[in-house]
Amino acid sequence: MSAQPFGSPTLTASPRVSPVTRRGGAGPAPILTAGSGSGLRAMDGPTDTGSMAIPCVELSNKMKMPALGLGTWQAPPGKVEEVVKFAIDAGYRHFDCAYFYQNENEIGNAVQQKIKEGAVKREELFIVTKLWNTFHEKSLVKVGLKKSLAALQLDYLDLYLMHFPMGYKAGEELQPLDDKGHSIPSDTDFLDTWEVECHPYLTQEKLIKAKPGEPTLMDDPRIKDIAATHHKSPAQVLIRFLVQRNIIVIPKSDKPHRVVENMKVFDFELSKKEMDVILSFNRNWRAVPVIQAVNHKDYPFKAEY
Ligand SMILES: NC(=O)c1ccc[n+]([C@@H]2O[C@H](COP(=O)([O-])OP(=O)(O)OC[C@H]3O[C@@H](n4cnc5c(N)ncnc54)[C@H](OP(=O)(O)O)[C@@H]3O)[C@@H](O)[C@H]2O)c1
Repeated sequence: MSAQPFGSPTLTASPRVSPVTRRGGAGPAPILTAGSGSGLRAMDGPTDTGSMAIPCVELSNKMKMPALGLGTWQAPPGKVEEVVKFAIDAGYRHFDCAYFYQNENEIGNAVQQKIKEGAVKREELFIVTKLWNTFHEKSLVKVGLKKSLAALQLDYLDLYLMHFPMGYKAGEELQPLDDKGHSIPSDTDFLDTWEVECHPYLTQEKLIKAKPGEPTLMDDPRIKDIAATHHKSPAQVLIRFLVQRNIIVIPKSDKPHRVVENMKVFDFELSKKEMDVILSFNRNWRAVPVIQAVNHKDYPFKAEY
């Protein structure tokens, strides 16, 4: 793992986002307050994963979300289809996708093939994708959703997130830049599409107290020591660290052996002392600061979360 922290939480900013489309699933968008303790409840029974069970987290609307999913960012077309099929066979049921990742087609092919084979049913899968920044205008939200549904070959999603709470100029260009290299914003207001739960019981002063670490995290001797104690790999320790914080984790790998390794995190427990050691790594370092959008009126990373 070179320049990315392990297992970025899916729901770091805990937005409530609509629309969430789910067949037969009327009712509000799920409240996804990772780490807050209010939206995420205790681990609740395994998914149907054969030999390797991934526990689920019950969301506030009673939907069950597998606590571990497969990240797909930078999983290259040509490779991602195979790895998603492999992951389904290995027991993954949660897939984290995005229009921006430009590989939803291949993921759709893999999912459809596995459904046709009878390896899995659609309703056993939890498929997440995200509205890209160039689709923030009200009239374009449905367009973006439909493009993702078509690419994924699905008629509903389990969760539709806003990728970032800032709109870019609509059009074919995914990251429209001006001649100075700055993102060209749209004049949309993210508050039109973004909901965040906030009330005296959930003041949102800090959505997540600590962020995942730094580029050398996997080689950090303290992580290696903890891993050796548990006969686990550094990657498994870093994933487990998030699991124990009640955060749904979506590590990406396009290597089958790592896809399997990353699932084996529900058979050991980090001690309070080990958790505290890892929590002490916090340095407010962010893997994807989206610097080109730093002047955008809705740039989200200046606020303290
Ligand atoms: N990073 C972000 O800011 C961000 C933003 C939005 C959404 N996401 C979602 O979160 C997912 C995860 O984030 P991420 O992809 O940035 O980072 P990540 O999952 O933390 O790290 C992925 C990297 O770690 C390597 N890796 C995976 N398992 C490993 C293991 N067991 N041992 C050693 N190396 C391992 C992968 O290489 P190989 O593939 O070669 O195994 C890849 O280089 C994304 O794929 C995406 O779905 C991330």
